[in-house]
Amino acid sequence: FGTPEQELTVIFDTGSDVTWIQCQPCLTSCYSQQEPLFAPAQSTTFSSVSCSDPACSQLNSPDCSNNTCVYTVTYGDKSYTNGFYSEDTLTLSPTDTLTSFFFGCGVNNSDGFGKVAGLLGLGRGPASLISQSNTKYNSFFSYCLPSTSSSTGYLTFGGEAPTNLNSTQMLTNSSMPSFYFLGLQGISVDGTQLDIPPTVFSNVGTIIDSGTVISRLPPEAYSSLRDAFRQKMSNYSEAQATNLLDTCYDLSSYDTVEIPTVSLEFEDGMALDLDASQILFLVNGPSQACLGFAGNKDASDVGIIGNTQQRKFSVVYDVPNQVIGFGQGGCD
Ligand SMILES: *[C@@H]1O[C@H](CO)[C@@H](O)[C@H](O)[C@H]1NC(C)=O
Ligand SMILES: *[C@@H]1O[C@H](CO)[C@@H](O)[C@H](O)[C@H]1NC(C)=O
Ligand SMILES: *[C@@H]1O[C@H](CO)[C@@H](O)[C@H](O)[C@H]1NC(C)=O
Ligand SMILES: *[C@@H]1O[C@H](CO)[C@@H](O)[C@H](O)[C@H]1NC(C)=O
Ligand SMILES: *[C@@H]1O[C@H](CO)[C@@H](O)[C@H](O)[C@H]1NC(C)=O
Repeated sequence: FGTPEQELTVIFDTGSDVTWIQCQPCLTSCYSQQEPLFAPAQSTTFSSVSCSDPACSQLNSPDCSNNTCVYTVTYGDKSYTNGFYSEDTLTLSPTDTLTSFFFGCGVNNSDGFGKVAGLLGLGRGPASLISQSNTKYNSFFSYCLPSTSSSTGYLTFGGEAPTNLNSTQMLTNSSMPSFYFLGLQGISVDGTQLDIPPTVFSNVGTIIDSGTVISRLPPEAYSSLRDAFRQKMSNYSEAQATNLLDTCYDLSSYDTVEIPTVSLEFEDGMALDLDASQILFLVNGPSQACLGFAGNKDASDVGIIGNTQQRKFSVVYDVPNQVIGFGQGGCD
């Protein structure tokens, strides 16, 4: 961010729009982060956004303080960021520079973001990086999330779709305009389709979100998946559950482990076949390996395909053509 560049590590989140970073002077509250806080005063291209700027009105419920546009974002887990809406140069790579990029300078931020400096909002709403860079990248981007911290992934804006993708329609719900919806309608375990009425999914919809770790299913769908998974895993010793994950095993004493396959099935016939690294979430290495899905509390809560289930795939978002594609071996 800024000129000269202040290099910062951020989360990228396809489930929200506003990009923000913690800023100096941190007036109210900042969590500790790995790099120094962004210093607007040291950037020659920085300016704050006035309340009458059209960019301010693209925010959800903006505020105005001393004629500066004030943004607030509250996430699903109740974490939040709040501060001054700002404008500066954003350099994504030596060849990818966005001038006059709008983002939040957070001076009142809760915990819950680890040690990163902030977040890139890659949602579909007008304030997102995707919408702001539409003329440059045509709302096309892709990424691969590696399955271990020692392997690498990528995030690319613009360009062409990789070949050999399995694609499904990107759906829209105008009452939640930031989200990328997919038509999830069923789940198979070891090739057998679970007995879940498709309306359990379609009544609430399912989004794909790089910023959620564990996928969330409607309660009825989750209990059906959990029961089938437990039955297939009944020969393995159980391990303690966590707050979110209720189906865990101690696999540390086995040389080989056979995990049932899980396949997510979509309205237009696409199937997403998940392997062990996309099904199990290792809370504590192999001694606490848990089914990496959770049930929503309420049958009316939206479903989420989270990042545990996306890792190792190329995930391609083609907004103009309303398509999301998945490719095997994306991080290879
Ligand atoms: C409002 O802006 C003026 C002029 O920049 C500044 O002197 C004043 O301290 C600001 N007030 C607050 C409450 O930030
Ligand atoms: C900080 O943000 C939270 C969440 O929006 C808000 O409730 C609180 O009043 C803010 N604190 C200050 C000092 O603005
Ligand atoms: C959009 O979401 C709302 C709120 O959850 C829901 O009531 C409505 O049925 C959804 N619309 C479509 C077209 O799915
Ligand atoms: C559990 O182990 C027994 C004995 O080795 C085997 O016959 C059975 O098929 C296994 N069950 C499952 C669900 O793998
Ligand atoms: C794509 O579909 C093919 C054929 O159904 C399947 O073999 C492959 O595993 C799928 N790829 C992904 C990423 O799910």
